[in-house]
Amino acid sequence: MALRLDKYLTELGVGTRSEVKKLIRAKQITVNGEPAVRPEQKIDEQKDEVCLRGEKLSYAAFEYYLFHKPAGCVSATEDTVHRTVMDYLTDTVRSDLFPVGRLDIDTEGLLLITNDGALAHELLSPAKHVEKTYYAKVAGRVTKEDVNLFEKGVDIGEDALTKPAKLVILSEGILSEIELTITEGKFHQVKRMFEAVGKKVVYLKRLSMGPLVLPEELAPGEYRPLNAGELAALKCR
Ligand code: URA
Repeated sequence: MALRLDKYLTELGVGTRSEVKKLIRAKQITVNGEPAVRPEQKIDEQKDEVCLRGEKLSYAAFEYYLFHKPAGCVSATEDTVHRTVMDYLTDTVRSDLFPVGRLDIDTEGLLLITNDGALAHELLSPAKHVEKTYYAKVAGRVTKEDVNLFEKGVDIGEDALTKPAKLVILSEGILSEIELTITEGKFHQVKRMFEAVGKKVVYLKRLSMGPLVLPEELAPGEYRPLNAGELAALKCR
């Protein structure tokens, strides 16, 4: 596919549009061994060899990363006050990556980071009912009655009740531990579902989304590329 050279270089994260123009003017970029002359010149990323100061650049149209979001950062690409999830991804090729969906600032756990807009749309579409499983610590005794209520759907102040959700009680006491699987992604959904039954989520972590499972060895703040199996499972949904 033919692509403008400056667009190609900015998408690879070589620099901003004006920085890559300077690099081109300074003859630091070559295409098939010849110094590039114009930022708007077209290149074929499959066939042309583009080098920066003699180093070959490789173009990945899409990148996919599994990120273990720590508490304290926002699920956005930019923020004037807080650290964003993107601040943790220091070693990526592309500069147009974004988080697929949002976790609250105090929520931890699995977040997919990609630049594949079509896949993100599929995963977030309410019509696709993608399962998301959360682990939570809840102030208050979570009971069998809550399990039944969540199965039927609860009123969180939206037009309709929540869709059937699977609540598993791991331990119950003044602080209960649970796992909850939902197929929607309403704002603060898990917290609001527990509020609807008079309880408060005090810790929340996403364990899985669709076929993706948070790997145990990935510490908060760490990320890794999706492996071939994870990518295939996502794409053949
Ligand atoms: N539900 C919530 O309440 N918060 C999240 O971050 C995710 C799901």
